[in-house]
Amino acid sequence: MKKILVTGGAGFIGSHVVRRLVTRYPDTQVFNLDKLTYAGNLENLRDVENYSNYRFIKGDILDYPFLKELFHAERFDGVIHLAAESHVDRSLESPATFAITNIVGTINLLQAASDAWKKDYSGHLFYHISTDEVYGSLDHGGYFTETTPVDPRSPYSASKTGSDHFVWAFRHSYGLPAIISRCSNNYGPNHFPEKLIPLMIHNILHGKSLPVYGKGENVRDWLYVEDHAAAIDLIFHKGKAGQIYNIGGNNEWKNIDLVMLLCKIMDEKLNKPAGTSAKLISYVTDRPGHDLRYAIDASKLKSELGWQPAVDFPTGLERTVDWYLSNQDWLNHVTSGAYRDYYERMYHHR
Ligand code: NAD
Ligand code: TYD
Repeated sequence: MKKILVTGGAGFIGSHVVRRLVTRYPDTQVFNLDKLTYAGNLENLRDVENYSNYRFIKGDILDYPFLKELFHAERFDGVIHLAAESHVDRSLESPATFAITNIVGTINLLQAASDAWKKDYSGHLFYHISTDEVYGSLDHGGYFTETTPVDPRSPYSASKTGSDHFVWAFRHSYGLPAIISRCSNNYGPNHFPEKLIPLMIHNILHGKSLPVYGKGENVRDWLYVEDHAAAIDLIFHKGKAGQIYNIGGNNEWKNIDLVMLLCKIMDEKLNKPAGTSAKLISYVTDRPGHDLRYAIDASKLKSELGWQPAVDFPTGLERTVDWYLSNQDWLNHVTSGAYRDYYERMYHHR
């Protein structure tokens, strides 16, 4: 059986990646290594937790001796590395935490993988999940391509850029077969309600104000999370070592337009008079150094591997809202902190 280690599999994107791999590849053993920080939630994977080809390991990528032992014991064929601190606003509060987890954690994993695989790298792959934010910020024209120079501006994007550099350093210095992909903003089920879309849905449901940073003019390129998981699956199985692949939705929205659209969908779903949710919008102090626009050119992934998004934005957004409306327990557990008990209940005795 092939063995894949997914890090950060209890988080938003990681849980969709784990589900996809476990259900599509019964002959692959999928290991989910996650520290279960505030962003890790095993309730995201309830539906696959009893699959025989799935195993959860609670562990920290900052613990090198543990990683070294794990790699030697399990002999993974490949790694898909998603574990990270991922929220820009938190990075502004605590930049060192981001440097430590995202850079040092990635170095530890790289070291453990190259140590375990160095006798023969063939058949192995270290796949690092990066972000379009490493390219910096665009004005109103142009797109990020794979050759755009990195120009990170937030502590989050600086830490992701640092981790990308170390992945390439291990490739050049030790011959580790590695791939990097850089994706635009994801949205969909299981998104932690500190990020724009789930925060707005949560606040509308609870009649709380909707904080729009600055004038709401910043632009993001949104991709449905299952499309990202599909791209990751494809790149892991068919991508070429040594390559960078951009992944994007070709779907740019100004924040305020997106929030207005969400308000409209929520009014309809909740049978409220048109305009009810939009009254909750409140313009608040802008995020310091707020990147104006991200927009990805994903044509390399399309031409070389045939990937393109399958879910259009109206469908994806409605699916997302429906998911939050029918999974209010998930939302309540996350906001109350009750999701943290899940590991204790489900795994402690095992
Ligand atoms: P997330 O914050 O939802 O999940 C991160 C996961 O990593 C959590 O389960 C957390 O418990 C785990 N983790 C954190 N520190 C750890 C540690 N020291 N050891 C082990 N596990 C640890 O993040 P996400 O939004 O799912 O993003 C996943 C990856 O994709 C990140 O690397 C992020 O930079 C990248 N990315 C995210 C987006 C996006 O829109 N969310 C877009 C492009 C790229
Ligand atoms: P976010 O979901 O934090 O993702 P990122 O900063 O990684 O792009 O934010 C998306 C956009 O929404 C970004 O321009 C910041 C803005 N934003 C708000 O206006 N209000 C909010 O409460 C949040 C969380 C984000």
